[in-house]
Parts: sequence; structure tokens; C-alpha cells
Amino acid sequence: MSDVRTKYKDIIEFYKTKNIAVLMGGLSSEREVSIRSGENVYNALVNLGFKVTKMDVDANIARKLIKDNIDVAVIMLHGKYGEDGVIQGVLELLGIPYTGCDVLTSAIGMNKIITKELLKAKGIPVADYVVLDPSNPDKSFNDILSLGLPVVLKPVDEGSSVGVEIIKEEDQLKGKLRNYLRRHPNSFAEKAIIGTEITIGVIGDQKNITILPIMELRPKKEFYDYEAKYTKGMTDFVIPAEISKEQEEKVIEYTKIAFKTLNCRGVVRFDAIISKDDGLPYFLEVNTIPGMTETSDIPAMAKAAGMSFEEVVLKLLEYVKW
Ligand SMILES: Nc1ncnc2c1ncn2[C@@H]1O[C@H](COP(=O)(O)OP(=O)(O)O)[C@@H](O)[C@H]1O
Ligand SMILES: [Mg+2]
Repeated sequence: MSDVRTKYKDIIEFYKTKNIAVLMGGLSSEREVSIRSGENVYNALVNLGFKVTKMDVDANIARKLIKDNIDVAVIMLHGKYGEDGVIQGVLELLGIPYTGCDVLTSAIGMNKIITKELLKAKGIPVADYVVLDPSNPDKSFNDILSLGLPVVLKPVDEGSSVGVEIIKEEDQLKGKLRNYLRRHPNSFAEKAIIGTEITIGVIGDQKNITILPIMELRPKKEFYDYEAKYTKGMTDFVIPAEISKEQEEKVIEYTKIAFKTLNCRGVVRFDAIISKDDGLPYFLEVNTIPGMTETSDIPAMAKAAGMSFEEVVLKLLEYVKW
């Protein structure tokens, strides 16, 4: 801790006099995760000696921020209204600086299809997909079959694996699709990539990018679903990932391109799977506000890089745009 205090002396000095709000909870399906992330970040900020308030986010958030004279917001929200540019827009309007990506990058990052199209345009491998039409389940069914099974069904704009389902058999798809489309009208089907699942943590801005050691995820369940993500012991983390040197270099090269293309800022995370068929890293998505829970990826990767949780939190502050 004392090392961190010396290394980040200027940042600590600057933020010491500021009223900091940790925005957490919120209205998305990832509310519980956000509360866990928010509590951890709040505790770290308190330990560092800052003036911090926790704020749950609802339609009254602007009033609360004004009433408490908040100078800077640490956004620990995941999903809708928190990670998608909405709260970022509110903060812009109020003139309150905030952690992480701006409105546009947040909005793009929340939409897995737009993200994929942008990465694909830059030559980064992404899995083939079809957009599902909730008003036409039969067409969606045929489109999915033309992709070739297995596929993964996914909402366009959720996180934490909410609504993610792997489909291996035609019968299974037949049984599930109508109901799936009712529950997730804005969704797509993506070709399943079989191979090594990795996640890549990135810290920085457009001038300065640090990539944390690449981490391999070995969930004990079929894939990295909600339970595997947030239950201790349900996923083994392997750092560094057991991938070849060439694969690692490719992943780093693509990650830098992706970070630049999406105009990212702060602490973000990309998820990818290295296909056992062609050895290429297929990028799944960007997380513009990655989880900071006890079982989350970023704290584990940071630790492997010799960074404490407090240091990650200081990095969030370091990259706030004033
Ligand atoms: N195309 C795919 N092939 C194989 N597994 C996938 C694929 N897409 C997603 N998954 C599995 O589902 C998990 C969640 O998917 P992801 O696209 O990262 O969405 P999110 O984490 O935002 O819910 C991944 O970590 C992975 O385990
Ligand atoms: Mg993911």
C-alpha cells in the first residue's frame, strides 16, 4: 500500500479534496454484480483516504449528484443505463467527470453486433452470426441452421452471460427458439467457437495502452455462464494463458487495434476464444466496465501483473478526463 501511495502521489493529492461518488446497483439485470463490484471499489477508495459516497442509480440520480456536490463519478454499473452511455450522458450534462469510456464508446460496446462489425472491419476475427427476428421464428430457425450447429444464442446488449445459451442439436433449437425470442427479442446467434477461452485486460487511453497478462478461463460448467462467473471455485483461472507465443502476439496485436478502434479509455476487458480448428483468436466482445467482484477477471489479472486492487482503482481515477 505504501508503494502505491508513493507511485500515485499526484493522483492521490488531486483527488483528496474531491467528493467522489461510486455509482452502483442500477436498473439492469446485472444489478447484484454491480453492487458487489461497487462495494469493493468503495472500500478501496475509503482505504486510500478519499471522501467517497455510494450511490444507487435510478431516475433520481441527477438530483442526488447535485445535492451531494459530487465532483467526480466512479461508475461501477454493468449493463443497461450504466455501461451503455446513458449514465455517461447524464454526467456529461451535469459537467461531472467520470471513470471509463465516453458516451459513444459505451453505447457501441454495449451492442455486441456493432462491436463485432467494427472489429471485423479492422481484420480482427469474429464469429459468423445471424440476427434473430422475434416476429419470424421460422426464418430465424432456418438462418441459424444455415450457420451450422453448434451455435450460441445471445442477447445483443446484455452482460454476465445473461441469456447466453449453447445449442448443439436441431431438436433442442426447435424446442427453445420461440420462447427464447419472446424472452430476448433483441438477440443473435453466433457460431460456437470451440477452443481456449481467454480474457484480456487493458488499461490506458489512446496514447498509452497497458495490456495485463492474458488469462485463460476454465469453467467447470459447459461455458462461462453466470454461475461460473460469480461463484467461487466454479472457474479455474490460468495466468498466463496456455497459448503459443504466436497466438499471444496476435491477441496483443488485435487487442491494441480493438482498443484504438473503439476509442476506449480507462480499464476495459475483451473476451475471446482461440479456436482449436484454425488457431485464431475470435473476439467475442468488449466490456467497458468490467466486473470488480472477488471472482472477477480484472482483479485476478491485475494481481498477476503485481498490481493490488487499490492500484486498479487508482488507474480508474488516473484516466478520468477532466
Ligand atoms: N461464439 C461463442 N462460442 C463459444 N462460446 C461462447 C461464444 N459466445 C459466448 N460464449 C460463451 O458465453 C460467455 C458469455 O459470452 P460473451 O459474448 O462474453 O457475453 P457476456 O459476457 O457479455 O454475457 C463467454 O464467456 C463464453 O463462455
Ligand atoms: Mg463476456
